[in-house]
Amino acid sequence: MDLSEPEKTLLFALLIILFIVWLLQRQKLQKGRLPPGPPALPLLGNSFHVNLKSPHKSLIKLSEQYGPVFTIWIGTYPAVVLCGFETIKEALIERGHDFSSRYPLPVLHKVSGGYGVIASSGERWKNLRRFSLSTLRNFGMGRKSIEERIQEEAQFLVKTFGNKKESPFSPDFLMRCAASNIICSIVFGERFEYGDKDFLSLLEMIAENGHILSSPWVQLYNNFPKIMDLLPGPHKKIFQNISDLCAFLNKNIQSHKESLQKDFSRDYIDSFLIKMDEEKHNLDSEFNDRNLLMTTLNLFLAGTETSSTTLRWAIQILAKYPHIQEKIHQEIDEVIGSLRCPAIEDRAKMPYTDAVIHEVQRYIDLVPMNLPHMASNDIDFRGYLIPKGTLVIPVLSSVLKSTSQWKTPNSFNPNHFLDKNGCFKNSDSFMPFSAGKRKCLGESLARMEIFLFLTTLLQNFVFKPVIDCKDINISPVFSGILQIPHMYNFCAISR
Ligand code: HEM
Repeated sequence: MDLSEPEKTLLFALLIILFIVWLLQRQKLQKGRLPPGPPALPLLGNSFHVNLKSPHKSLIKLSEQYGPVFTIWIGTYPAVVLCGFETIKEALIERGHDFSSRYPLPVLHKVSGGYGVIASSGERWKNLRRFSLSTLRNFGMGRKSIEERIQEEAQFLVKTFGNKKESPFSPDFLMRCAASNIICSIVFGERFEYGDKDFLSLLEMIAENGHILSSPWVQLYNNFPKIMDLLPGPHKKIFQNISDLCAFLNKNIQSHKESLQKDFSRDYIDSFLIKMDEEKHNLDSEFNDRNLLMTTLNLFLAGTETSSTTLRWAIQILAKYPHIQEKIHQEIDEVIGSLRCPAIEDRAKMPYTDAVIHEVQRYIDLVPMNLPHMASNDIDFRGYLIPKGTLVIPVLSSVLKSTSQWKTPNSFNPNHFLDKNGCFKNSDSFMPFSAGKRKCLGESLARMEIFLFLTTLLQNFVFKPVIDCKDINISPVFSGILQIPHMYNFCAISR
């Protein structure tokens, strides 16, 4: 075929363009050498492979087929799933920097706009995390001063439970009040009465959000945010509740601003305001109003819902297994007696109680899929290439319920944390607070709260269910971001 000169030039240009397109395509494919996973449908991704009622269980099941590192598609975006102790340890601890960013899941991004310590990444996150940790420690997290605050709050709880006069009641809401009051003392410098109407309405909103965030609605929102934004449903309530909670916090922040003394910080908000003032000439400072509001909200929500839900689970499990409750009562009687409050230093002398608390946290597997992580840069991991910005899901449940790490992973068994002499023994696979650089910021506060609240309650009461203990269902009613227990009434019988 004879081609004219202009036709030859055109063909040559076309071939060059095709070559460049091929090269770019190849580069893209190489860059995204994502781990294999189940076949995904266009737009719907792997929606059909994941059970919305307990997504972590579907992920663990898929890992049996595709291995400990695999890819699923959430709607139109990929997520690299990490399962098992070795894989999660390698990613979050040994390759901590690579995996320490936070993925802006649609629901998280809509709520936070990328501000605050939980939702941020990079320099913003580093600054906010460093500041928050050191400020929480200054206000006594993990130390004597907060121990006294928790002991005092535990006595309020005992008094309120005692007022029920051994008649049946649900301890859930009161547990939430008590746990919330601890973080409120640190963040706002005040505690609230359990009957305070404003406080109760805040806690109701937090509880409601905890439920919706753990329901299938949020999975649907994260899969199809644009469509879900147009549809009515409980997911809309989350955003309404967050905006009401922010209004309360803004009012509180404003009154802190009006009474601030720059040389004396009363609480976390004061410390943040003082830091904002110190950095007021730095235009790039992360210490600004939006990060103050969001980080305060983060601490308030994370500090209220997690510890109180753990305590609710603990009471329920102990009511189901009265012989375990009885053994804790014995240990309390031997080590503490009835004349003084439990203190943190008692823990080392109470191996059985410590083992039960660890087992509660392992068994309930409170945050089964962790919070979403993100590849901080292109990551070469186990022969795959995970592109920067990819969602990473380290499935904590796959470690806490691993058949290779625990003798009876799916039953409640305090012996997981006891050696043959009855001494407490910890395990590297105990990671309910996650692991590595992004590990829970409130871990030492939460551990103090759970030990002191639980031992103080058990020093004073025997928890008896109103139904047969065999009928208490200790599997979650919802599993999403958190695993939520069923709700039961108990009688708190004075000891
Ligand atoms: C039993 C109680 C608790 C459990 C099981 C728990 C669990 C977790 C988990 C799994 C994460 C995600 C870690 C990651 O991304 O790898 C986290 C993060 C976080 N937790 Fe907790 N938590 C608890 C209590 C608390 C308390 C009392 C506070 C309040 C100070 C708190 C504040 C936070 C914050 C601010 C983060 C975000 C840290 C970051 O992104 O750097 N948590 N927690």
